[in-house]
Amino acid sequence: MEEASLSSWTAVGLSAAVSPGTACRALVGDHDLVIWRGRDRQVRVWENRCPHRGMRLSYGFVRGDRLTCCYHGWTYDGEGACTLIPARPDLAPPKAVRIGQYARAEHAGIIWAASGSIGMEAPSFPGDWIGCRSIAIDRPREEVDSHFASGRFILSHPDQHGEINRIACAPSLNGDGVHRIELHDSHLFEAVLCAGQPVSGTQTMLHVSVRPRGAAGKHGEALRHVSDWLKEVRTLVENRRAGIRTLGVPRARLPHILERDHGPG
Ligand code: FES
Repeated sequence: MEEASLSSWTAVGLSAAVSPGTACRALVGDHDLVIWRGRDRQVRVWENRCPHRGMRLSYGFVRGDRLTCCYHGWTYDGEGACTLIPARPDLAPPKAVRIGQYARAEHAGIIWAASGSIGMEAPSFPGDWIGCRSIAIDRPREEVDSHFASGRFILSHPDQHGEINRIACAPSLNGDGVHRIELHDSHLFEAVLCAGQPVSGTQTMLHVSVRPRGAAGKHGEALRHVSDWLKEVRTLVENRRAGIRTLGVPRARLPHILERDHGPG
């Protein structure tokens, strides 16, 4: 089984899920991360452990461009340096009190993280992407990857008149656990980007962005469409090991999903 690591750029959340002034937790195998965004709108990805007594910083509070631990109130600036110890307000915090940081990037509506020493360029995908949804799948990332890698897909897709069309498309691999599906014949979107976060040996969080086509007023429809499709992807991947090859639902009842094409080639 693939061991989860941050040796390459890894999706850890949607940009829209971390608003300015908030912090949240993300797991990548043994890496416990706090992701937070300050008033400067910069996202930061740190070790989720306060150097004082080890409290998770994801329980903390963001004030301005600083993160404060919820336990004893030690406060850290955007570089991870401690700036305040409330019990000793007269004391300049030792410089050695500093939180470990990860390299981070935001692109295509997704937050990416990697070990701090990484030398590779951050992920880049041309075009205007909108973060759509994150969904937990109870399977390791390699099983999610193999779902995308193992063949051609058919998108059952409504056209402008509400008729259902079937569009063939093939995902392409764009880095570890990142799959891009180009949709040349869709009036709703140009492409879908699926990036897997290996949470553990048994769970993957799939972060998905969409490159919509057409007017902004249609974007909501595109996002809903992909969101529905993701639920079907989860069902397909989670049931794969059990040998369930289809959902057992007539295609006519699944007009809005991307499903595996079991027909001839
Ligand atoms: S554990 Fe964080 S301030 Fe004490």
